Amino acid sequence: MMQGTVTVLGIETSCDETAAAVVRLTEGRVEVLSERVASQIEEHALYGGVVPEIAARVHVEKLDSLVKMAMYDAGIGWDGLSGIAATAGPGLIGGVMTGLSTAKAIALARGLPLIAVNHLEGHALSPRLANEVNFPYLLLLVSGGHCQFAFVEGVGRYTRLGSTIDDAVGEAFDKTAKLLALSGAGGPAVEREALQGDPEAVDLPRPLLDRQGLDMSFSGLKTAVRRAAEEKTLTPKRCADICASFQAAVADILAAKSARAMEIISERTDRRTFVTAGGVAANKTLRARLEAEAHRAGFHFFAPPLRWCTDNGAMIALAGAERLARGLTDPLDTAARARWPLDEASASAAPIYGAGKKGAKA
Ligand code: KG4
Ligand code: ZN
Repeated sequence: MMQGTVTVLGIETSCDETAAAVVRLTEGRVEVLSERVASQIEEHALYGGVVPEIAARVHVEKLDSLVKMAMYDAGIGWDGLSGIAATAGPGLIGGVMTGLSTAKAIALARGLPLIAVNHLEGHALSPRLANEVNFPYLLLLVSGGHCQFAFVEGVGRYTRLGSTIDDAVGEAFDKTAKLLALSGAGGPAVEREALQGDPEAVDLPRPLLDRQGLDMSFSGLKTAVRRAAEEKTLTPKRCADICASFQAAVADILAAKSARAMEIISERTDRRTFVTAGGVAANKTLRARLEAEAHRAGFHFFAPPLRWCTDNGAMIALAGAERLARGLTDPLDTAARARWPLDEASASAAPIYGAGKKGAKA
């Protein structure tokens, strides 16, 4: 069942961003009516990483007013909504519960359907916020908790093609920033430093490039970065060189695996579209490399604008709207999930264990 127009409030609280947005979907056309994001970078800065209990408490403090502001900005009133969507996992469980409970309360009070969204589905569909990206497409999802290739054939139809066997790529950016004592958010800090550095100055490994398939590994790279950081005095120049070399290694790994993924996809479909999404897709060096790789392979390339790469409410509202338009809603007793793979069938057939920020990098 496809409805003509659906307008959905989306809530995101799975990690350290509290976000709310209103998205309208009309026959496949997307309009972001409003969006608000509050980052918790400052609240966690002292601890060198996201502290789950603090994250959950700050979501509780900020969410009500963010939702009110997003609704005010949208200018449609509560009666203008067709449903309420929230991230129901995967993520830090306290935060996920905060957002999901808020969504349930609004849904109950307003008599609206609830849509429990998989955060990874939000990222997977996010390129459709800004561009008309038609199914099917090849997805490279790169974020703080996940790193995987998937074949996206439609809403709810995702096949995992390969993924990291250890750390997520965003985690490697965050660890590198921490090792080098860079201030601010990890990924953007490494990217900023890298601008001043020489990408060939430090010899770093490109794990698993010699191996068939689309699995990736970043833990060896992380160890090599630590060794490089301890080897010589960390002058500003050395620091910038390490960042530039690290970023180049990541870009090499992801570009090579993407080229392979596009070859595989070419055998399955004539539709040649490659998208990347997730926080690390905000990295400009990486975007440029992936775009070049896509064009070399004869693929169209899409990556969301930077604000929709990192966690945001618009992608959750869109995923909710896409599901609602197909009649997919969830009961009010739906539970929050710390772990929730995008492709549940592949994940249970061949589980990948890891201990990242968000658990299984399924
Ligand atoms: O998608 P996201 O906001 O949250 C998760 O779902 O995990 O991704 C956050 C990750 C963090 O590891 C962050 O360091 C990384 O994305 N990131 C970046 C950049 N901006 C954010 N990594 C590299 N370059 C960037 N510009
Ligand atoms: Zn995310």
